[in-house]
Amino acid sequence: MYDNKPPVRLLGLIGWPVEHSLSPAMHNAALAAMGLPWVYTLLPVAPAAVGDAVRGLRALDFVGANVTVPHKQAVIPFLDRLTPAAAAIGAVNTITLDARGQTPQSVPPTEQTISPTATALDTAQPDVLEWPQLVGDNTDAAGFLADLRAHGVEVSGGRALVIGAGGASRAVVYALVSAGCAVMIINRSQARAHDVAAMVGRVWPGFAVTCGQFPEDIGRWVADADLVVNTTSLGMWPAVEGLPWDPAVAFRRDQVVYDLVYAPRQTAFLRRAAADGARPIDGLGMLIEQGAAALTQWTGREPSRTIMRQAAERQLEQRF
Ligand code: ATR
Repeated sequence: MYDNKPPVRLLGLIGWPVEHSLSPAMHNAALAAMGLPWVYTLLPVAPAAVGDAVRGLRALDFVGANVTVPHKQAVIPFLDRLTPAAAAIGAVNTITLDARGQTPQSVPPTEQTISPTATALDTAQPDVLEWPQLVGDNTDAAGFLADLRAHGVEVSGGRALVIGAGGASRAVVYALVSAGCAVMIINRSQARAHDVAAMVGRVWPGFAVTCGQFPEDIGRWVADADLVVNTTSLGMWPAVEGLPWDPAVAFRRDQVVYDLVYAPRQTAFLRRAAADGARPIDGLGMLIEQGAAALTQWTGREPSRTIMRQAAERQLEQRF
């Protein structure tokens, strides 16, 4: 129940559309359990208004915000600094207003991280002593690794087959390579797969990522992979029959098969993996961990994953 007493602080989710998001339920439950009178709200922002919305976070004294499709790249020109993960991945899912300039290791956005279509950064700042810096991070990468760890999956020294080469793939590939895992990317468009490989080459010179064609090359590489990850939206509600796989190819029995999709929890891809004797993991854990990493930045405290999971699962049951 909202009351007007300070210190109510604001957090939100910038996206377009955002009404299907599980984030408000998940974050508000965690904030309440932490005893913080903060509010996390949906912030539907039309593409033309992204710059105004990001600058508005500072004017309205927000603690921070999450960013989702289609704005994860578009917000970058309006930020003061990016963490190394966000700069490499080229996408931001978490903005923190850092009044003391204490966010570690963040760097200003460069031409490489600003999309060519973005509007120029307005550098004019009012004369305010503690005008906070807008810092962009990508907690999808850390969230993916944290969930693998929570499932007891060790990727260091292993091999992963990643399906897809969009924004989610960039975060997953960055996470895997940073953890010392060899990566093979399978995508429909080879140009996008090579873009992801080029990102790895820029961050870790000499570290090669193999690229292949979806779905033709899956059969050739599957036996080499300890981990298979679907980063595409194929199989997501409502088009639940979508399969990011070659139906003629069997999974390896001891393989871990991870689907970033969590609505539904049991995708056609994970059902097929389980039927072949592989170990299926759905994307809900990554959603929770990327949110928990953001909440930790905003509050300086570790939220309860159990409470976040319960709130997210309740929403999933009601909606899908
Ligand atoms: P996100 O940011 O969520 O990753 P995205 O950038 O639109 O979303 O990327 C979607 C991914 O799903 C891409 O790898 C896309 O393949 P292309 O790069 O070839 O477009 C993949 N994808 C989407 N629909 C697909 C389909 N019907 N068959 C194969 N791949 C598909």
